[in-house]
Amino acid sequence: MDTADDRSFLARHEFLIRRIHSLTGLLPVGAYMMVHLIVNLSVLPVIGGPGMYQKLVYQIHGLGGLLPFVEWGFIFGPILFHGIIGLWIVRSGLSNTGSYPYPANIRYSLQRITGIVAFVFILYHVFHMHGWFHFEAWRVGVLDPLAGAQFKPYSAASSLGQAMAGFWVPAVYAVGLAACTFHLINGLWTMGITWGVWTSPKAQEGAANVCGLVGVVVGVVAIGALVGSLSVNPQEAKIAEDRMFQHKITSGELPERESLHKRSDGTEGPHGKQVSAVGRVGE
Ligand code: HEM
Ligand code: HEM
Repeated sequence: MDTADDRSFLARHEFLIRRIHSLTGLLPVGAYMMVHLIVNLSVLPVIGGPGMYQKLVYQIHGLGGLLPFVEWGFIFGPILFHGIIGLWIVRSGLSNTGSYPYPANIRYSLQRITGIVAFVFILYHVFHMHGWFHFEAWRVGVLDPLAGAQFKPYSAASSLGQAMAGFWVPAVYAVGLAACTFHLINGLWTMGITWGVWTSPKAQEGAANVCGLVGVVVGVVAIGALVGSLSVNPQEAKIAEDRMFQHKITSGELPERESLHKRSDGTEGPHGKQVSAVGRVGE
C-alpha cells in the first residue's frame, strides 16, 4: 500500500536503494544463480552424474548449523530484497530514463516482466524443493499437504528426479529458467548503464554483443540443468546414494538419527512413488 510515509522514505533514499538493488542483482543473486545452476548441471551423466551431484550436495550441507544463516544471509535475504524492491520499481512505474537512453526498447519492458515471472517462479521453486521453513507445524500443516520440500539432500539426484516428474513441473521450470536467464543477461547490460560503465552508443552496442555471448553460455547451462534433472533414473541414482550414505554413517561423518530426515526413506519417494529396492541404512 502506498502511504505518504512509504513514499517519502523510498523517494528520499531512491538513489541509494536503486544502487543496492542493482548490485544485489549481480552479487549475490546472479552469482548464486550461476553456481546453483552449475551444481545442478553436474547431475547430467556427461558432466558427472548422480554420484558427483550427491557429492556436491554433501559439501553444501556439510555447513551443518551454519546453513540456515548462509541461506538467509546470502540467498533468501538478497533475493527477497532485490525482488521486493524490483516489484516496487515496477508497480510505481519508476522510469529509468534518467540513466537509460532506451525507454521505448522492448528489453526495458521485458526486464520488468521477467522480474515478475522470476519472483513467482522463485517463490514456487523454493517451496517445491526446499520448503522455505523446516519447523514441525509448517511441515505438517503446509509442506505435507501441498507437496513442498520435495528435495532430500542425502538422496539428492533421486529426489530431484522424482520432484521433476510429469509434464507441468518441467514446463513451469522451463518458463522460470528462461525468465531468470533473460533477466540476468539483460540486467548485466542495464547495470553497465546504471553504473556508467558503457555510456556511448558504440560502447553500449559492444557491451550488448558481449552480454549476448554470456547469455548463450548461461542459456546452455540452464538448459543443461533442466535436462539433467529430467534425465535422472531415480531407482539407479538411489542405489548409489544409499551406498554413499551408508559409507558416511559407518565412517562416523554423519550422525545417523539426525540424518534420516534428509533422505528418502528407501521405500517411498515424494508423491508416494516407489524409489528404491535397497535395504534401509542401519537395519
Ligand atoms: C525475485 C524476483 C525479481 C524481481 C521482481 C526483479 C526485478 C527487477 C527489476 C524491476 C529490475 C530493473 C530495475 C530498473 O529498471 O532500474 C531488475 C534489474 C536487475 N535484476 Fe532483477 N528481479 C528479480 C530477480 C532477479 C534475479 C534472480 C537476478 C539474477 C539472476 C536478477 C538480476 C538483476 C540484474 C543484474 C538487474 C540489473 C540492475 C541494473 O539495471 O542496474 N534479478 N530486477
Ligand atoms: C533446472 C533448474 C533448477 C534446478 C534443477 C534447481 C534445483 C534446486 C534444488 C534441488 C534446490 C534445493 C536445494 C536444497 O534444499 O539443498 C533448490 C533450491 C533453490 N533454488 Fe533452484 N534449481 C533450479 C533453478 C533455479 C533458478 C533459476 C533459481 C533462481 C535464482 C533458483 C533458486 C533457488 C533458491 C533461491 C533455492 C533455495 C536455496 C537453498 O536451498 O539453499 N533455482 N534448487
